[in-house]
Amino acid sequence: MTICYSLADFQQALSLIPNNYKIGFVPTMGALHKGHISLVEKALTISDTVIVSIFVNPTQFNNPGDLAVYPRTVEEDCKKLREAGASLVFIPSVKDIYPGDDTRSISLGGLDLTGEGPRRPGHFKGVAQVVTLLFDIVKPTYALFGEKDFQQLSIIRFFTGELNYPIEIISCPTVRESDGLAMSSRNMLLNAKQREAAPHIYKTLKKAQEIASAQILPGSKEVITPVMLSRWVEEEINSHPLLKTEYAEVVNSLTLQLVQNWEDARDIQLCVAVNVDPVRLIDNIKLKQTL
Ligand code: PAF
Repeated sequence: MTICYSLADFQQALSLIPNNYKIGFVPTMGALHKGHISLVEKALTISDTVIVSIFVNPTQFNNPGDLAVYPRTVEEDCKKLREAGASLVFIPSVKDIYPGDDTRSISLGGLDLTGEGPRRPGHFKGVAQVVTLLFDIVKPTYALFGEKDFQQLSIIRFFTGELNYPIEIISCPTVRESDGLAMSSRNMLLNAKQREAAPHIYKTLKKAQEIASAQILPGSKEVITPVMLSRWVEEEINSHPLLKTEYAEVVNSLTLQLVQNWEDARDIQLCVAVNVDPVRLIDNIKLKQTL
């Protein structure tokens, strides 16, 4: 496995890959866990060579404190990537990615109007900025992203199509700890008590999925609407003293618009963000899927 710490080195290594090779690309911000490794493993099954980038992108952090504490574990990351079978790791500097002002404006198709969008102003703009710049450098055949970042995945799919990148976006299921907690680089910032509390998030999502399929409010015979379910989820998560729901939204899986009635969309997703102070965790679950 080759590790490149500069754009020039990376371009040199990239030029050695045969033109007819299918390149699988896994962009990351490091602090790799089994979720990332599952993306590499999937990439290996469909590509001739797998490239991983590790770049903590400053433009997608709306909160400088969050950027400062974002875990950085490059050595361990490279070890995990070597074991997983990646061929090339690109660890650029900020100057490599942003040599000057980036004046482009990338449409997010209105997919940033709910969920993380309004709560993290500029976040998806930063994601779109870095992902397109990385796509331009790496020129992969496939790019792989996890379903834990459901909104990010939808937005990346959107602008990849909109900008006509000849890249296939592949999504991979969320990888969970044995107690259900979605794997995330941020989990390593939780203290022991918070780590114990965090699985309550996914337990609540699973219950919400059951409620959505029965469409009956627990403990009553009342028919539950998507808005009522959102409130129930928020209260259920908040019933744990260490957890504070930032949002619980029931959205159309394609447009990410809030749904008022179960019939409003063919596919429906429940997305949450929860503060486990000062750590912020997100998760999501499918509530309805029409095949
Ligand atoms: O999901 C992430 O780790 C990041 O948002 C990404 C896609 C690597 C862009 O910085």
